This record gives sequence, C-alpha cells and structure tokens, in this order.
Amino acid sequence: MNIKSENLNKTYMKKELLNISILSNINIEIMSGQKVALTGVSGSGKSTLIHILGLMDRPTSGRVYIDEVDCFKNDDRYLCTMRKNNIGFIFQFHYLMLDFSVLENILLPVWSERHTRLKHARSILKRLGILDRQDHFPSELSGGEQQRVALARALINNPRIIFADEPTGSLDRVMGFEIEKLLFEISSELGSTLVLVTHNEELASRADKVMRMVNGKIGV
Ligand SMILES: Nc1ncnc2c1ncn2[C@@H]1O[C@H](COP(=O)(O)OP(=O)(O)OP(=O)(O)O)[C@@H](O)[C@H]1O
Ligand SMILES: [Mg+2]
Repeated sequence: MNIKSENLNKTYMKKELLNISILSNINIEIMSGQKVALTGVSGSGKSTLIHILGLMDRPTSGRVYIDEVDCFKNDDRYLCTMRKNNIGFIFQFHYLMLDFSVLENILLPVWSERHTRLKHARSILKRLGILDRQDHFPSELSGGEQQRVALARALINNPRIIFADEPTGSLDRVMGFEIEKLLFEISSELGSTLVLVTHNEELASRADKVMRMVNGKIGV
C-alpha cells in the first residue's frame, strides 16, 4: 500500500491562546513496498508523525491518503477497521499484556478468530525464533524476546504497512540491530511497506528512502 500526506499539521493548544506547532506542512510520499527510515533528534516529531500516518491520531489539518483513500474524511470506526486489516504497529516499549502468554498476546488483535489463527501465530513465532517461548509470560522473557513478541503481534494480521517506532529503544545495540534487521527482512518477505523510526545509520543507509525530521518538518 502507498501512503501520501498533504500539508499535514499538528498543533497542541497550551493555555488559552498559545498553540504549539509539532508538525508543519508535511508532504511525503511512500510507495508500496518501500522501506523508509525516519530519523531526527528527540522531540522533532517522529512519533507524532507515524501515529498520524498509522491512523492512531488525527492531524489538526491536512490529509493522509492510503492507496488513494483520504483516510481522515472517515469516522473512527473506519480508521479502526483500516488499522485492523492493513496496519501493523510496533511501539518503542512493547506494551505486552503481562497476564497473557506469548501466544495470547500475539492473538489479541484477532481475538475473535483466535482459534483459526493459532497455526499462523505459531508460524510467525517460528520465523522469529521464539516458538519454544509460546507459553511463557512476558516477565519470563528477555528484552529482545519481548520485542520479538511485539513484532509477532504486529504481524498477525499480515499488514500491508508496518510502522515501527524505535522498536529497539530499550535494547542494547547488538540486539537492537538484530530486531531492526529482522523487520527489514520480514517486510521484504511480505512485500509490505515499512516505516521505521531508527537511530541506526547503517540500517538507515540500507532503506529505500531516509526522511529526516527537523523541528516538525521533513528536512532534505
Ligand atoms: N499531547 C501533547 N501535548 C503537547 N505537546 C506534545 C504532546 N505530545 C507530544 N508533544 C510534543 O511534541 C513534540 C514532538 O514529540 P514526538 O513524541 O513526536 O517526538 P519524537 O521525535 O518522537 O521524540 P523521541 O525521539 O524522544 O521519541 C515534543 O516537543 C513533545 O513535547
Ligand atoms: Mg518518539
């Protein structure tokens, strides 16, 4: 799926009249299947941007097109269905449910179909090298394993677009690099579009496109 934004702005109202601009006039185009690295210093607006592109938050103004559909023209129910059917999101901190096993965590986004999706969930765990951890609870896993589970959960709906917001922020460099490399490989295997927030210059150089955020704008 391709993603396009037109004059995207996000501002937050602070006190009565003071507006803080977080994103200003973002115009980007990401082709279907492209791997994009999004970089920029802390506070430059990376998370805000991918939350909007991933339809989890609305812009103050501007448009986001996914496969030519003007997404924010639609109501929240539409956005929710669009996310469920097409989008996988991996957060900086994994947000796994601590009382659920690995397998249950992965099946959460498709809970009503969990019995028919079991085989698929296990095949993803196998691909990520953690099938033997399927009945463990998150607290019994290492940081890298937890992040792999979060990755598996984002893949359960065969997403056409994968967003990853510094998925390795809580890991050491070597493990972080492994996870990000895995994301590149898997999105290639699936033919999915990937937007990855990363500080790893080596990986960024392997992306099809690098977008650098500076103060809420995409730099050149
Ligand atoms: N709900 C909010 N209200 C007001 N300001 C906010 C809100 N959410 C984020 N911001 C501000 O927006 C700016 C961009 O935040 P964002 O999280 O997008 O940055 P980032 O590039 O992802 O940073 P990091 O690398 O630290 O994750 C920051 O200055 C932040 O303080
Ligand atoms: Mg962020």
